[in-house]
Amino acid sequence: MAREFDRTEERPSVPMPPPLDFPEHGSPEADVLAEVEARFAKDPYPVERNFGVSYVGPPHQIAEQIRPIAAGSFFVEWARDMNPAADLFEKEAVRMLGSLLGHRDAVGFITSGGTESNLLALRLARNLGGKSEPEVVLPTTAHYSFRLGAELLGLRLREVDVDDAMRPDMRQVERWLNRNTVALVGSAPEGNFGQLDPIEELADLAQRKGLYLHVDAAFGGFALPFLRDLGYAIPPFDFSLPGVSSMMTDGHKLGLLPVATGFFLIRDEAMLDAIPAEFTGIHIITATKPGDHAVAAWSVMRRLGREGYRESARHLMEVVDIVATGIENIDGLRLLIRPLLAVVNFTSDRDDVERIYLELRRRGWGATYGHDGSQGRIRLSIHPHRDIDHAHGWVAALKESVRAVRDDA
Ligand SMILES: Cc1ncc(COP(=O)(O)O)c(C=O)c1O
Repeated sequence: MAREFDRTEERPSVPMPPPLDFPEHGSPEADVLAEVEARFAKDPYPVERNFGVSYVGPPHQIAEQIRPIAAGSFFVEWARDMNPAADLFEKEAVRMLGSLLGHRDAVGFITSGGTESNLLALRLARNLGGKSEPEVVLPTTAHYSFRLGAELLGLRLREVDVDDAMRPDMRQVERWLNRNTVALVGSAPEGNFGQLDPIEELADLAQRKGLYLHVDAAFGGFALPFLRDLGYAIPPFDFSLPGVSSMMTDGHKLGLLPVATGFFLIRDEAMLDAIPAEFTGIHIITATKPGDHAVAAWSVMRRLGREGYRESARHLMEVVDIVATGIENIDGLRLLIRPLLAVVNFTSDRDDVERIYLELRRRGWGATYGHDGSQGRIRLSIHPHRDIDHAHGWVAALKESVRAVRDDA
């Protein structure tokens, strides 16, 4: 997966803090709270200025309001009868998402996030495929969790090259298919550059060849249906395509849900027979999960409805447009691809991009920096929580940063 987000330097290793005794006595509540607050205050970017990571920002406020009601609750498949409320919230949230993503009969689970959901898909595809040396074909831009899954599950990945717009070569997809292939994977969109894979073509191929197709809609699941409602031309990417076997999406990316809320959805409940669960009663990888995540998922979807999520998607795209247009208006900077959704990447053919990134950082604005071969790029992953004022603020900071780098040159 050569297109992963490389860095010029190794990530600095963060040392463990010095040894720390387990406290003999409790501390006053006020002291504990004050220290927690002080530590968060030292984080490099205030939430509103962090354009680098999509998770920052509180979930929708009703998710905070249900916390005291759901406090201490949990859900785990084997003990459904002991936590029926949380269990039903999970299942109904899954049903609502199934209907949003083109298949009212989809079944599935709330997971800890995208990585777990992708591992679940690989496991299901491997078990259903029944091959002794199973292989999975996927674009090289796919998320690293597939590489992790291959390692854990004994799968061979066949990676497909992408063009300059990060679109996979479909002829190569076909060439990689062989008698060991158990699955195809596509992303809607992938998280690094934000490009939408050709899901229709992949679904058609999967159907023709009788293969499992998993769609990683970590970003898209909670946004593309609403953008379509708003009139954006969004091609089919979900269960409405008969070739799609499973999908995942993350509530903690664009879904306004608490961090560690992912969804794994499958077309047909009978597929779950391929998971040995007779002793555990569990079909997923993690077992017990916080009940308030299931309640929050259900509550936010109920509170907002399509209407509320449409508004969130509209706002998100307004922020993205301000940022993308701001970048394009700076002479010498260039978007790598026109953003489909929340991920924006840009580079410069004349400036040192890493220095621009450092200048932004010095001014307290979060982004991420990486390079692909010789070319540096700055990547933003914009959350609906970012507001219009801060979008303009980010563009102003970018202008200043570019000026500072050029003045220094
Ligand atoms: C496309 C895509 N899939 C999966 C993941 C993994 O999600 P998580 O960090 O919730 O495990 C990410 C994370 O950014 C992603 O961008």
